[in-house]
Amino acid sequence: MSSTCLESAQMKRTKIKEILKNKDLIGNEVAIAGWLRTVRNQKTFSFMEVNDGSFFSGLQVIVDQSLPGYEEIVEQAVTGASVYVTGKLVESPGKGQSFEIKASSIKVFGTADPETYPLQKKRHSFEFLRTIAHLRPRTNTFGAVARVRSALAQATHQFFQEKGFLNVHTPIITGSDCEGAGEMFRLTVGEEEFFGKRAYLTVSGQLEGETYACGLSDIYTFGPTFRAENSNTSRHLSEFWMIEPEAAFCDLDGIIDLSENYLKYLVRYALDNCERDLEFFNSFVEKGLLDKLSQVVETPFERLSYTEAITILEKSGKKFEFPVSWGLDLQSEHERYLAEEHFKKPVVLTDYPEKIKAFYMRANDDGKTVAAMDMLLPKIGELMGGSQREDRYDLLEKKIASMGLDPKEYWWYLELRKYGSVPHSGFGLGFERLVQFVTGMENIRDVIPFPRYPGHVEF
Ligand code: 4AD
Repeated sequence: MSSTCLESAQMKRTKIKEILKNKDLIGNEVAIAGWLRTVRNQKTFSFMEVNDGSFFSGLQVIVDQSLPGYEEIVEQAVTGASVYVTGKLVESPGKGQSFEIKASSIKVFGTADPETYPLQKKRHSFEFLRTIAHLRPRTNTFGAVARVRSALAQATHQFFQEKGFLNVHTPIITGSDCEGAGEMFRLTVGEEEFFGKRAYLTVSGQLEGETYACGLSDIYTFGPTFRAENSNTSRHLSEFWMIEPEAAFCDLDGIIDLSENYLKYLVRYALDNCERDLEFFNSFVEKGLLDKLSQVVETPFERLSYTEAITILEKSGKKFEFPVSWGLDLQSEHERYLAEEHFKKPVVLTDYPEKIKAFYMRANDDGKTVAAMDMLLPKIGELMGGSQREDRYDLLEKKIASMGLDPKEYWWYLELRKYGSVPHSGFGLGFERLVQFVTGMENIRDVIPFPRYPGHVEF
């Protein structure tokens, strides 16, 4: 393949999404490039469906046997091959298709051996597709997941930028354990401490994010985070992406309002911009998905305290696997019961017992609880976790020590409370759990391009 050919192909190609949106192009010459999803060879012509990833469906191309080199084309242009097609866009007589291309030229960049190409026309299980994560972007489902994920990332930046939040890039390599839970991957280069002290992959950008909020007021981070917890569930990854807004001069109620507005904005954005992909998920992945999403946009979320939630769970009459009692952390089954069965909508729980939450949460006056918030969703459980931060130096220092952590390690974090301390609050949203909620995908391993979980780091 000569490089001039590739360059001219890039220059002249129109994305299939643009063609499908623009009926004015009918009768014109167009050029597209993509991969063949299906090929049907008839006696005197061939139907080829080309998909370039820009839209859920592809475009049908009709190749007549009068095309020069027809026999060679048909031999190479098989399912999975990559092609560059020019031709006239015409209205399609066939049902379902509004238009198609009558090919005037086809260039096959790379053919695909039908004996070994794994994505032939049958339906594959998601488990199998995980083993070919390098090819699964070419399937309907993973193309749709990728487009929805990209749209939700765009919506995130748009939402916070419109509100005047600054995007801050917090470090991936860090010396401090944000959650104090000791679930960090440690970095080593041979025997030496490369950074002169222990270094880890970050579990959260929050602590560094707070330094910027305590100087620039409103910020958000959007980056990869890492947890070395041995959780093999459909809701946990070892590497996942998190969005963490942090707002100064903001209390717990303020940050809960922000979290509700943010989720509504995200869902509305997906409904407006990913209509065809969501219709697909609604039909084939989660029945009732579109109704569920519309309901999220339209109804106010439920807000109640952890203590009230415990009472509801105790009175539910439901047999849970894990015990329910004031002071114990809620398990996924409890969270899902509240959101899915009891309230049937997103629920925000507040004011958790101090003992089960991280050291940085602000102590409430009752001496037992902290100003924490968790947002729980039907089917997903916890989507967001946040809090008002402890902004009183003495209390924070004592708390760090009482949790078995070394206040010296957090000297810079403590200094934010020494110089110009302000009430401030934030939360973290697990981006993959959001993508799961919006697409209805069952397993978190299928909403991130290359999932990392215990025992799996292929690709
Ligand atoms: O509740 P978490 O641990 O909160 C924090 O990290 C805070 N520093 C956030 C903050 O206040 N700025 O995690 C936040 C969210 C969870 O609600 C969940 O959605 C997601 O991150 N999450 C995971 N997602 C996938 N795999 C895992 N192992 C996850 N652990 C947490």
